[in-house]
Amino acid sequence: MTGLVLVCGGTGRLGQLVVGALTARGVAVRVLTRDVDRAAHLVDGQVEVVVGDVRDRAGVAAAVAGADVVVSAVQGFAGPGRVTPASVDRDGNLHLIEAARSAAADVILMSVVGAAPNSPMELFRMKHAAEAALAASGLPATVLRATAFLELWVDLLTSTAGRRNRPLVFGRGENPINFVSVRDVAALAERVITDPATRGHTFEIGGPDDLTLDELAHLVAARRGTPGEPRHLPRAALHVMAATVGRVRPELGRQARAALAMDRQDMTFDSAGMRAQFPDLPCTSAAELLR
Ligand SMILES: NC(=O)c1ccc[n+]([C@@H]2O[C@H](COP(=O)([O-])OP(=O)(O)OC[C@H]3O[C@@H](n4cnc5c(N)ncnc54)[C@H](OP(=O)(O)O)[C@@H]3O)[C@@H](O)[C@H]2O)c1
Repeated sequence: MTGLVLVCGGTGRLGQLVVGALTARGVAVRVLTRDVDRAAHLVDGQVEVVVGDVRDRAGVAAAVAGADVVVSAVQGFAGPGRVTPASVDRDGNLHLIEAARSAAADVILMSVVGAAPNSPMELFRMKHAAEAALAASGLPATVLRATAFLELWVDLLTSTAGRRNRPLVFGRGENPINFVSVRDVAALAERVITDPATRGHTFEIGGPDDLTLDELAHLVAARRGTPGEPRHLPRAALHVMAATVGRVRPELGRQARAALAMDRQDMTFDSAGMRAQFPDLPCTSAAELLR
């Protein structure tokens, strides 16, 4: 029987599904959010909401107190509150790990496939730093690394398509990228949160599709009606964006640098091994999601 689970990031795309899955199993959940309104729809007899920010060490300690499992599904790549990968994905996670040690809680850390100290993407370097700190802590912990969330990219391409139904792709859009449905990730997260036998392991989850952004843009546009060709923000413009506006608006610089890396580096993923280990996990394709 799983005790109290603190879900940091419980208001996010993944976190909300995890909270729903846990409560459906009768697990008591506490959600940490910076904005209580974002969590209002989650509150019920089983879900307690606490207001706090993972960048605030003392506040994190208070939120973690009494929890048996701490789930980190936060990200500081984008979003409100001047977040950064360094302050949220590295330092915020360090605060959570420290507090989990005091509370003798297990930790479940959401990370990314490709997390590495020398990654061109700051987010990936900061996720690696959190993974390393967690391993060094000696806490009972499970790391869950995922590829790009399909729903996020479908939403981004849909929101930029406009009336002419031509989604905007950053870069050439010809590099194959693995996309995984957030539903599949939530199913695996639920599994590892509630199964102590997964402690001490790192799991990587990807989806069935390696698609270029152009291919995904075509699928998105086809669903919306008469499909138009995707528009492209050229790589040269991304370099300029990173070097100019990115200095004043760091989040735009991060997006430009991440887009350049995603346009070039190997983002493919073979899920066969992981899927064999968890054969009953949903395996949602882009075509299924968009149907
Ligand atoms: N999106 C992807 O493609 C992808 C791929 C692989 C792994 N992941 C990982 O999966 C996890 C979930 O991602 P997602 O896309 O579902 O996230 P999301 O929808 O962007 O939500 C982000 C969450 O982080 C919380 N958060 C951000 N800064 C915070 C802070 N300073 N203090 C407390 N909470 C903070 C937000 O909570 P409030 O705003 O309510 O405070 C929100 O619940 C993250 O760890 C992410 O790195 C994502």
